[in-house]
Amino acid sequence: MSTGVENRRSLIAILPGDGIGSEVTEQAERVIREAADLFGLAFDIRHAAVGGAAIDGDGDPLPDETLELCQRADAVLLGAVGGPQWSDPEASVRPEEGLLRLRSSLGLFANLRPIRPLVSLRHASPVRAELLEGVDILFVRELTGGLYFGPRGRSESSAFDTCVYSEEEVARVARVAGRLATTRRAKVTSVDKANVLDTSRLWRVTVERIFRDEFPAVELEHCLVDAAAMHLISRPATFDVILTENLFGDILSDEGSVLCGSLGMLPSASLGEGPVGLYEPVHGSAPDIAESGTANPYAAILCVAMMLRHSFDNEAAARAIEAAVELAVEDGLLTADIAYGASPLGTVAAADAVLDRLEACAGESTGGSHKPVEA
Ligand code: NAD
Ligand code: IPM
Ligand code: MN
Repeated sequence: MSTGVENRRSLIAILPGDGIGSEVTEQAERVIREAADLFGLAFDIRHAAVGGAAIDGDGDPLPDETLELCQRADAVLLGAVGGPQWSDPEASVRPEEGLLRLRSSLGLFANLRPIRPLVSLRHASPVRAELLEGVDILFVRELTGGLYFGPRGRSESSAFDTCVYSEEEVARVARVAGRLATTRRAKVTSVDKANVLDTSRLWRVTVERIFRDEFPAVELEHCLVDAAAMHLISRPATFDVILTENLFGDILSDEGSVLCGSLGMLPSASLGEGPVGLYEPVHGSAPDIAESGTANPYAAILCVAMMLRHSFDNEAAARAIEAAVELAVEDGLLTADIAYGASPLGTVAAADAVLDRLEACAGESTGGSHKPVEA
């Protein structure tokens, strides 16, 4: 007899947010639904407001009902938050606060940002093709500490933000990097600014200890952030996992996106020790192209793949979605940010291209029994 528990539908919360956020999550939702059909999965999908849209609604960028929905959910997909209409430096509340509170409330301290340039998109990167050969980087960005969350303040003529890290905050994200590195090429580059900052010195000794005691088979190197910014472009293929603190990870991952051709290609997963995962494209609300129907939906669609992998342990479905995106790109079905000369597709047509290829890819990805853990 069924208890009903095993039939529970997994709950996915979708928070479209602002600007292109709603345009790309709408397309990602179509992919979730199609993947559910193809792989026999049952999802209960709910929507809620976040960011500027939520400020306009009830003055709060993370309304209680949105947070409660996310706390109950198995996974959350967030589009993007922010925009010029909420960006007055004197504003008392900003859309971005909603996202930061969400990450922090859900305890999502590890943000995984894979950088795997597709061969067929090399034309879209300003970096020379031969430097892109073999590039496969995984950023593990600390997400709930550092300058984003330390004490801060502002008076008429001065302001301060404080960077604070505890040993435990560093240790737990270092362990995530270590575990993931053992499923990859077993190399971690820890990026800090230990020549100047005390938080970076704590970061460095803590990371050193964790890898010595817990991941002796992983090669660990340290790199100062300014040099790392340069090496990321001059020799990207030499990196495997890049472990870094919150602000450095934010900046370096946008820089890393040029290796893939566009920010519009980069998904991310924000994970913690709790049961909920948050999946967010690395890009923002792109006010310059919002409402034009031209945004690249591939990052948001690739977030669905990461969600299926990390929250629903469905590697086959994740791979099918990744393969469908790759095939669409190989077939030249490109949005304006990556088209360079070819005639570009709009947001909906690009998602159509993925959906058209998903069934065939699903057939192939369930055919094999290979199930590596990947970012
Ligand atoms: P952005 O990432 O929104 O855009 C940077 C550039 O990349 C723009 O030229 C934009 O058109 C382009 N771009 C980004 N995503 C694209 C896509 N999917 N397809 C095609 N082109 C794309 O960064 P910004 O302009 O500096 O910030 C705009 C707002 O977004 C700000 O309010 C910022 O705080 C917010 N933001 C939010 C998130 C998030 O919610 N996760 C992330 C980054 C920035
Ligand atoms: C990102 C964004 C956010 C961050 C902003 C919107 C708070 O830039 O996810 O990369 O800085 O973490
Ligand atoms: Mn960012």
